[in-house]
Formats: sequence, structure tokens, C-alpha cells
Amino acid sequence: MTLEQQRHAAQLAFVASGAELEIGTRDDCPLPLEQLEATLGTEPYVRECFSAGLTAHVYRIHAGGRDWTLKRARERCKVQNVDGQTSFLNEIQRRADLVVLKRDPRLGEHLSAVVDTRYASFRRGVLLSPWIDGERIQTWNERQLLQLFDALVALLLGGLFEWDLCPGNTLDDGQVRLFDFGYMYRFDPLRQFNSNGTAAPGFHAAERFETRQYFAHLLPLEQQSDHLALAAFALEKRIALDAYQRLRAELLARGASSTVLDWLGGIIAEWRQALSGDLDALYLKEAWRSHWLDLQDDLGGQTCTPSTLVRIDWLEQAVRERHADLQRLTALGSAHALQAELREARRNARQWQVG
Ligand SMILES: Nc1ncnc2c1ncn2[C@@H]1O[C@H](COP(=O)(O)OP(=O)(O)OP(=O)(O)O)[C@@H](O)[C@H]1O
Ligand SMILES: [Mg+2]
Repeated sequence: MTLEQQRHAAQLAFVASGAELEIGTRDDCPLPLEQLEATLGTEPYVRECFSAGLTAHVYRIHAGGRDWTLKRARERCKVQNVDGQTSFLNEIQRRADLVVLKRDPRLGEHLSAVVDTRYASFRRGVLLSPWIDGERIQTWNERQLLQLFDALVALLLGGLFEWDLCPGNTLDDGQVRLFDFGYMYRFDPLRQFNSNGTAAPGFHAAERFETRQYFAHLLPLEQQSDHLALAAFALEKRIALDAYQRLRAELLARGASSTVLDWLGGIIAEWRQALSGDLDALYLKEAWRSHWLDLQDDLGGQTCTPSTLVRIDWLEQAVRERHADLQRLTALGSAHALQAELREARRNARQWQVG
């Protein structure tokens, strides 16, 4: 069994067992638990409803003199795979891990980005956090990138790998905030690359951010000028490089395996070289990977959006105009096969639009 299959089996077994997983006690709730559990969105204490969430109903509620986020499990998650179906349980499991990690004397101070959990109950399908009075991040300035990568390094050192760094999962209220952990899984940072062990070396924290979010943000910049997009890419890569160097040094000090250290060292060397030379080539390579992987993700969960189609546009244009360049940079099929695959992807993406 792969590590992913083991996780699925353990989580499905937990669901079937009927066991409860609770964070805090019902007395921590600013409203009676029964009331939170039965919230539909029409109650006077509800200030806003978010129906966009795929896993949960999300409400902004007012109680006890302040605002909270109430997340209630959906009867059935809209993401059509096991990861989606177990994501509410997974989120509460990770919230429990994060409560512990935030108390870690070395890592805690780097985890202010991670929202606190006031109360959670898996069986009641309730998760309560302080409301973040923030904005979606449109342009990712230097401060935001520094704060994000600082938090990501601490999470990795703490043995937590976040897969879904999409735009809907990051907010900024003067500080970057992470609050959705439905697809954050445990791993051993001293011996593994991510929660799939060493089976998939292409997936790492910077890749997740670039794939799920940053390259979508670079798309409109590319429309304005390649120079603007490249400058934004350079900023992000410099900050990511710095973060990975700190990460590697700390993993070395903690006795990480040479497999992990060499793997990280390889990524660091590639970025460093590109930043001092041919950044264009790295841009093309990472952009291709990002749009490609994000597309596979959307198709895999049958959760496509208009931006899925924009990514397909980008990929098709890259096959038309840069196929030879791409072939030099990364393993790639023939232009003909890729075009056929992208046509099929577009048909499916049109059919699987959500929201
Ligand atoms: N603590 C919070 N403060 C402010 N807004 C929040 C908070 N938690 C969630 N939201 C808002 O609700 C939306 C959905 O929340 P969240 O991402 O946790 O739900 P989800 O169902 O897991 O979403 P998805 O599965 O689509 O990622 C977020 O994009 C955000 O706008
Ligand atoms: Mg979310």
C-alpha cells in the first residue's frame, strides 16, 4: 500500500468507528454547541455565508462580542475523491496537530500565520475559529511572500505538508493567514519529501504555492509584459530560495537523511543558478509544471472553474510556440499528443465546472 492509500484506509476506518475527535470543550463555544451544530445561515447571529467552499458550509457569526468562523461539514463533500470525502476529518486532525505545534518553543513564533482553533468536533461537524478580518491576496508583495514562506518552513519542520495553497485558502489582515487544512497531511521531514514519502519528488512547498496560486497570479502580468511577470517570479524565487536554505540547514542540524538533503540541495542549486543567469528558462519550466499539475488536480477532483480553462489556453499556446524549448527543460510528450490531451481536458473542464 502507498502512504496515500494507508492514510485513506486509516481515515475511513476512523469515520466507520464512530469515534469522536474533539478540540477544546463545549464550554469554549461562544454559543451553545447545539445551536452551532444546527446553524443554517438564516439566524440573527450569522453575518455572512460562504457557499463557495467545497468541503464545508462556512459562516461568519457574531457571538460573545466578536466574530467567528463557523465551518460545518457538508453531508457530502463536492470533491469527488477519497481525499475530498475525508477532508473535514483531516482538517480537524491537522488542527489538533497545529495546536501542539504552535506551542513548540522553536517553531511556535513562526506560526502566527496559522489560525487558532477555538473548538472542533468531528461527529458534530463543527469547527470554530476566530474570524480573520482580511482580504484575498491579489498581487503577493514581498512582505506577504516572506510571511508565507516563513510559515511554510515551520510547518515542514513540524512535519506538516500543505497541498492546497490556492487563492481561496490564503488571507491577509496585515499578516498572511492560513485557515484551511483539509489537504494538509503529516510527513517525516527528515526522511520524506512530502506526505507521499519519496515517491513524488516533484511536490514541495514552493511548488505547491506556485502550482495552486502563484502562476495563476502571473498570468495577467504576462499579458501586460513578460518583464513584469519575470520580475514577480524573481521576487518569489529569491524568497523561496532563502527559505529553502534555512530549511535545509535546520534539517541537516536535525539529522535528516542524505536522500532528503541531496534532493533539497538539488532544488536550491537549480534556483540559485537560474537567479544568477537564465531565469527565463526556469520560468517556462515552472510555469508549464504549475499549469499542468493544477489542471490535473482540477480534473482529478472534477472541480473545474473558469481559471482551469485559462490554464488550458496557456498550455496550448506553450505547445504551439515553445514546444522545443520545453522539451529541452522537462520530460514532455510530442506536440501532437499534448494537443490531443489538452483538447480532451478542455471538454472535461467545460463539463465539470463547479460553483
Ligand atoms: N477564519 C476565517 N476568517 C475569515 N474568512 C474565512 C475564515 N475561514 C474561512 N473563511 C472564508 O471562507 C472560505 C471557505 O473557507 P475554507 O477554505 O476553510 O472552506 P472549504 O470548504 O475547505 O473550502 P475549499 O474546500 O473550497 O478549499 C474561504 O475562502 C474564506 O473566504
Ligand atoms: Mg478552502
